[in-house]
Order: sequence, then structure tokens, then C-alpha cells
Amino acid sequence: MSVMNGNNLKRLHVITWGCQMNVYDSGRMADVLAPLGYGPAAEPDGADMIILNTCHIRDKAAEKVFSELGRLRGLKEATGGRMILAVAGCVAQAEGAEILRRAPYVDIVLGPQTYHRLPEMVARASRAGNAVIETDFPPEDKFDHLPESLTPQGVTAFLTIQEGCDKFCSFCVVPYTRGAEQSRPAEAILREARHLVSQGAREITLLGQNVNAWHGGETGGLGRLLRDLAEIPGLLRLRYATSHPRDMNDELIAAHRDIPALMPFLHLPVQSGSDRILAAMNRRHTADDYRRIVDRLHDARPDLALSSDFIVGHPGETPADFEATMSLIREIGFPQAYSFKYSPRPGTPAAGAGDQVPEAEKDRRLQVLQALLREQQTDFNAACVGLELPVLFSGPGRHPGQIGGRSPFLQAVHVTGSPHLIGHESMVRIVDIRPNSLSGTLVQERRIA
Ligand code: SAH
Ligand code: SF4
Ligand code: F3S
Repeated sequence: MSVMNGNNLKRLHVITWGCQMNVYDSGRMADVLAPLGYGPAAEPDGADMIILNTCHIRDKAAEKVFSELGRLRGLKEATGGRMILAVAGCVAQAEGAEILRRAPYVDIVLGPQTYHRLPEMVARASRAGNAVIETDFPPEDKFDHLPESLTPQGVTAFLTIQEGCDKFCSFCVVPYTRGAEQSRPAEAILREARHLVSQGAREITLLGQNVNAWHGGETGGLGRLLRDLAEIPGLLRLRYATSHPRDMNDELIAAHRDIPALMPFLHLPVQSGSDRILAAMNRRHTADDYRRIVDRLHDARPDLALSSDFIVGHPGETPADFEATMSLIREIGFPQAYSFKYSPRPGTPAAGAGDQVPEAEKDRRLQVLQALLREQQTDFNAACVGLELPVLFSGPGRHPGQIGGRSPFLQAVHVTGSPHLIGHESMVRIVDIRPNSLSGTLVQERRIA
């Protein structure tokens, strides 16, 4: 390992789009490049290397990448062409060769499964005129080749435990860009979690495209893993995302009953409340299956709050199907949720379906649905006023003298308080709601953990 010093320090700027797994991957790419002397650059101008970590999930993903590359090209030229420009992530995986054809000034194109090979790619790209493309799914596991994370993530940290997806929902590119479902070994996960805690993490969110499909062979599934993680001294809170209803098994539901560190907030995408559309989406569960899972979760953990993802205007969605989604939302209640207009993705089954919903109708449905979700979110937050909630403080607050953190339900909370409380949990009385956060007062200065 070369030592970082003034002479060989190079500046790396990473631009991250997409999901939390991309955020995690960006951190790991910085980790693999650190031994080569790369340190973080806050701004892209004049950086020695820029990585654009891309997302392919919706809309004009590729066009957005090409327009950003046009901007970065200018920055590269300003360095006399010295800057190394890399495109990573899901658009790189899906459109690799096309990127080099349309943007020949790009030096490296790499998919999400190959970034452990970045040092070697950088060496190859540094030899003049040599563009490098690595978008295969290599036989080796990238996690076996990554160094321990060098840059602490802070009080709240992400840890990828599972990648890829075998579910092939009709609308989704992820099985193509991330490849087949794959679980990391429990031992490696526990080691990384202990390392994160030693660097100051008090909350860990386990990540995976289908995180609850994680399996550890004979030792069991995610429920078992959560029990083992909860034993780590100093680790106060656990979360996991994103889950598929089909993988919400008894062991995992029991974990919500038994593990106090497992936060009572779960992102469980349902996409639609119509059985016809759920079938067309190849979700392989019904709306009632979802209702039953939610009931069982509430039996296990009565205060559990749910978040979800919804798609409006999937091919074939009628006004009645849309109404079924609205009913499901009214019935279950989601304090927080994401909703999207269906966006045809090249190469996915739904993109070729004949019964596409007109854009204006998708817009209309999205507005109606989002109005309901906003109302539910506001009601949930308003119901928190007057309550005392444990808040894990993770950094400064909105205004000077304030600190900020999250409630168990992932609400952002700001209070006036000492920075000494950062990294600790304290009880906060919620006094007011703001558009994207809650404000409160410390019940007592004392830390509860
Ligand atoms: N693995 C997760 C979701 C990954 S993508 C799951 O199964 O739930 C995140 C969200 O993006 C999805 O839940 C879905 O709501 C949305 N999404 C994915 N593809 C989409 C598309 N083609 N159009 C609109 N929304 C889409
Ligand atoms: Fe995409 Fe469906 Fe897999 Fe989620 S489960 S990543 S929506 S294919
Ligand atoms: Fe986007 Fe890839 Fe994540 S398509 S949502 S960055 S898995």
C-alpha cells in the first residue's frame, strides 16, 4: 500500500445518482482507490479523477448521463485531458459500449460488480488512448477483494449484504443491471458491521435490492442475521431496505417482535393495490397477501410504521385498478412513501406491452395518489406532536446551536442541544412539524444510550 502524502495525493470526485446501494458503492470505490493516493475532492473542477455513478431505473436515464458527460468533458479539457473520467453503475452496465461510442473522451466504463478492479483499470486507462470497459459479471466476489472501509460513514452507516435480483418484475431493469441475487457471507457482514461500529456507527442500515432475500445457508435468513448483529456492543439501531413482500418470512417477522434495536419502520414496496396489475407486474403476490403481511408485522410490533413504493400507469392499469391502489393506501396508511409514473425501460417486458397508459393520465393519477400520501404523512407527523421519541443524533441541525437526528420512524428531528449528544440517543419531546422534519426539545440532556 502506498502511503498518501503531499507528493502523490490525487483528488477524486464522485457523483452519485440512484439508490442507497449506489451511495454505498461510491464509498467503496473511494476506498479501493485510496491506496493509489486518491483523496476526496468536494468539487469536480480540477479533480484528477471523476466517477459518475449512474442509475437506470426510470425516465431518460441514458440521456441524463450523456448530458452530464458533456459538462464533465469541459472540465476534463480544462485539465489538459489529464483527468480520468469513469462512468460506473447501472447505466454503465446497460449501455457500456454505447457510452464509449458517444462519449469517446470517457476513460473507464465499469459495471456495479467490477469496481474492486478499479486500480487495475486506472493503470490501464493511464496508458494513452486506452479506454477500458468492464461490464461483465466476474466469477470472483468483489466483496472478497475490497479493503476495509477507510472513510468513516458517521453515526448512521450503510452496509450492503445482498445484491442483484431474480424476481424480474415486468417493469424493472435491476435484474439486468445488477445481475442474479447473491448474498454475502454472514461472517463478512458481521466483520464489516463491527468495523463500522469501531468507526463510530451507532445505526446500520442493511442494504440489498431484495435485502430480505438474504440467506446465510444453514444458519438461516435475515431474521437470524439481525439477531447476530443486534449483539454487537455499541450498535443501537438496525434497519434494512429494500424488501420484497414475498420474502417477508416468519423468522423475519419474529425479529421485529424480539429485537428492540430493529427500528419500527419498514420500507415494504407494494407497487399496486390491484391484483390484475400485480399479476401483470409479475409481483407474484396479491393485495390481500400484502394486507396479511402487514397484519402479522403489526401483531409482532404494534408501533411499526410502513413505507412503500407505488407505480401508477403500469401498462393495462384501468381507473378501477388505480382506485384499488388508492383503497389499499387508505386502508393501511403510509407515513412515508415513494410514488412514480410508470416509465418504460428498454428490454423489460412491460415496455413492449400494447396497452400503455397515456402520459397525461399517468400524470393525473400520480397527482391524486401523491395528495393522499402527503396527507397521510402530515397526519402521522402531526400525531407525533406532544410525544416523547428517542432520537439518535447524527450531526448539526438546521440552525446554529441545533443538532439533528432521526426518530425510530426515520423522521428528521431538530433540537437545540449540545454537539456532545451527536452519536447518542436522547429522549425528545416533539413540539412542531415542518414540511420535511420535526422540531422538538430535549426532555433531559441525559443520553439514554
Ligand atoms: N427491489 C425493490 C425496488 C427497486 S427499484 C423492490 O422490489 O421493491 C425502486 C422502485 O422504483 C421500485 O419499487 C418501483 O416502485 C420503482 N420503479 C422501478 N422500475 C420502474 C419503472 N420502470 N417505472 C417506474 N417506477 C419504477
Ligand atoms: Fe426490480 Fe422487482 Fe427485483 Fe425489485 S423485486 S429489484 S422491483 S425486479
Ligand atoms: Fe438505480 Fe441501479 Fe439502484 S438502476 S435504483 S442505481 S440498482
